[in-house]
Amino acid sequence: MVPIKQLFKSTLGRKYLMGASGLALVLFIVIHLLGNLTLYSKNGDAINTYAAKLESLGVGLIVLEVGLAATILIHILTAIQVTFSSKAARPVVYAELKTKGGNTKNTISSRNMIVTGLVLLVFLVIHIIQFRFGPEIEDGYVTTVSGVPVHDLYRVVAETFSHLYWVAFYVGSMVFLGFHFRHGFWSAFQSLGLLNPRWSKPIYALGLFLAVLLAVGFLFIPIYVYSIQGSALAAGGSQ
Ligand code: HEM
Repeated sequence: MVPIKQLFKSTLGRKYLMGASGLALVLFIVIHLLGNLTLYSKNGDAINTYAAKLESLGVGLIVLEVGLAATILIHILTAIQVTFSSKAARPVVYAELKTKGGNTKNTISSRNMIVTGLVLLVFLVIHIIQFRFGPEIEDGYVTTVSGVPVHDLYRVVAETFSHLYWVAFYVGSMVFLGFHFRHGFWSAFQSLGLLNPRWSKPIYALGLFLAVLLAVGFLFIPIYVYSIQGSALAAGGSQ
């Protein structure tokens, strides 16, 4: 096995790490959206039960979180390295924009990967501070599900989305997620050397489909929560 340090040193190795970490993040984002679909319910029981189940994984959850943090870090570092080394070498950014079959992927998404990626990084830092490291049981954010006391994560989310500026911030960020994903999905296969001219088009189409599905799936959560819960909180109706 090639040591990870060696991979970081070569251009090809960095591209490989960028593509592999990108695809691992795709898996996380799909699972994250599936979990977050529980927010499309009328009360917080579904998301609070889901979060309590995750918490019950104990050390397993910590291992998963550390793995996720490492994957995100590898993706960011290699993406920055690849972008700036290819910019210095030639005026084409991020991954190769052409396949051997001459299938050009020069779109608004492909030309702005580093910009959309950096916006997502800012989103992610704020998002994790708000929801992962937000108010806990000790801060009074506790409720009961089937008689068992659990962390009231729903209240954290609903209070956040009671502010229209946070709704706008999340909606805007999800548009950036869609654009980043649209090219990133195809580009990851390209970076891993898994594309041939025959597969390029279907993979790009799948990336586009998933990008729209994920962006729309996430994007309506803040709007939905605001419309059923957040607006009531904003008006001082509960909590
Ligand atoms: C409307 C969109 C989103 C909502 C409502 C949402 C909701 C949440 C919630 C409630 C948590 C806390 C989970 C817990 O503590 O058990 C969380 C954590 C997290 N979210 Fe999101 N999320 C959204 C979009 C995203 C996107 C697009 C990404 C990635 C680009 C993302 C990445 C993360 C990460 C990395 C964590 C921390 C996971 C952990 O450490 O357990 N989220 N999110």
